[in-house]
Amino acid sequence: FHDRVVAPSLLAADFSRVREEVTRAIHAGADWLHLDVMDGHFVDNISFGPAMVQTVHETNDIFLDVHLMISRPDHYLPRFVAAGADLITVHVEADHDVCDTLGRIRDAGCQAGLALNPATPFEAAIPYLKQIDLLLCMTVVPGFGGQAFMSEVLPKIEAAAKYRAEHGLAYHIEVDGGIDARTAALCGQAGANAMVAGSSTFRAPDMAYAVAEIRSA
Ligand code: DX5
Ligand code: ZN
Repeated sequence: FHDRVVAPSLLAADFSRVREEVTRAIHAGADWLHLDVMDGHFVDNISFGPAMVQTVHETNDIFLDVHLMISRPDHYLPRFVAAGADLITVHVEADHDVCDTLGRIRDAGCQAGLALNPATPFEAAIPYLKQIDLLLCMTVVPGFGGQAFMSEVLPKIEAAAKYRAEHGLAYHIEVDGGIDARTAALCGQAGANAMVAGSSTFRAPDMAYAVAEIRSA
């Protein structure tokens, strides 16, 4: 019942020309821009922090979907709010009071997202579903772009969609990792509507075609 959203992941962009890359994504038809924040602790990679979010925010008005793969999202939250995030997603597996963090995200005027690693069952999200605008089901183990889609996550997406319908909830269901036109179709059938795609969009020969293919998949 939500419209399909395509969110190119900046992680796959050319960092030496970030502003041009964001503009390219917007012209290609991106609905949201997905920003992967990694702290070298929650995941085995370091990407960028609030300064990057702010740079993107100052350049344009596209909706910023900020995915925090960091151990202490509660501690860094105010900096990402100030940087211009529209939606902030935190992991249920991170070291924080999830209920409190989600409440603070909404209190700050942002939309709140909750992410589940591939190994984390849907049940781990149930206590928080009334507090969120988006449930992110990771379709790779987070940390790196360019990994292969894990089809074993599809039943979790189905469970999230079924639960949402049965309980009159309205959260987006987002997928992230190994998404292209083929895997977006599988996720869409399972009930996902927000498609994060890094390599398959920024590194496509024709980004507008790639975004359109994912949207209609
Ligand atoms: C994975 C990140 C993803 C990543 C997706 O840890 O959360 O957002 O950028 O990259 P692709 O689409 O290349 O798998
Ligand atoms: Zn992500």
